[in-house]
Amino acid sequence: MGPHITKAVIPAAGLGTRFLPATKAIPKEMLPVVDKPAIQYVVEEAVNAGLEDILMIVGRNKNALANHFDRVTELERNLEVKEDTARLERVNYPTDLADIHFVRQGDPKGLGHAVLRARRHIGDQPFAVLLGDDLIDARDPLLATMIAEQERRNATVIALMEVDPDQIHLYGAAAVERTDNPDVVKVVGLVEKPDRADAPSNLAIIGRYVLRPEVFEILEKTEPGKGNEIQLTDALQTLAADDSIAGGVYGVIFRGRRYDTGDRLDYIKAIIQLAVDRDDLGPDLRRWVKQFASGLSDHIEGPGTGH
Ligand code: G1P
Repeated sequence: MGPHITKAVIPAAGLGTRFLPATKAIPKEMLPVVDKPAIQYVVEEAVNAGLEDILMIVGRNKNALANHFDRVTELERNLEVKEDTARLERVNYPTDLADIHFVRQGDPKGLGHAVLRARRHIGDQPFAVLLGDDLIDARDPLLATMIAEQERRNATVIALMEVDPDQIHLYGAAAVERTDNPDVVKVVGLVEKPDRADAPSNLAIIGRYVLRPEVFEILEKTEPGKGNEIQLTDALQTLAADDSIAGGVYGVIFRGRRYDTGDRLDYIKAIIQLAVDRDDLGPDLRRWVKQFASGLSDHIEGPGTGH
């Protein structure tokens, strides 16, 4: 058994260029998904898995993120005077969720570099990393399974999901071997964003990782890779290639609902998918979507590109 995990790292220093100009003055993690900023779903997911010490790796627009998880006394007073307790609860909820810490990434040199910025806060313990572009439906818990697997094997654990082979170039791809558990594989190789022809499989890394602290040492020595960035995938490949460093890498296969908010089309889909299931908005939205879609049926012009 490995030590118990209590800390989560959320890299949130991306420039959000795909959403410009919406992300000119606010981080993309603050874009609303229905009525909550994307980052709040991710923090809630960490807390639901028992991780209440959260470190966000932030860029120059950090203020909006810090403010979202802080008190806003003026707004609270205003809602108190109006006795609007429902809204008051929604305003206060993110404040009480977790202990949230911030560190700046400075010069953004890739995901591996962002994770390395967590070294001092994490120390010598295993920890989780959650990427804000991937939202995992709270009804399909993934992180708790990964943490249990990490604690059992004392290894590195990543989340993998089958994707269409046409989409694998957007992800880290894994070469895997079976274990005695059909939902867990041994990862024997990893490649960041391979061309379809070079991909070892159509198992894509999705943005949840449970890492051992040895990863920091490896990241220190990892040279820039794809896109001239220091890639977390490359550091994990080093760990997958040699079990003696930190017990190897295992993948938990996720078969649940995942929403991608990193790209404009998928972001719109995520909002609709989440809103149709809500009690307050779902019934009206479902009715409207059906009506709207029936009016569209004559306009479909062949397959979209997805990204
Ligand atoms: C990152 C990782 C990639 C992973 C993806 C999951 O890429 O580098 O390996 O598959 O997240 O969302 P990004 O999407 O940040 O470019």
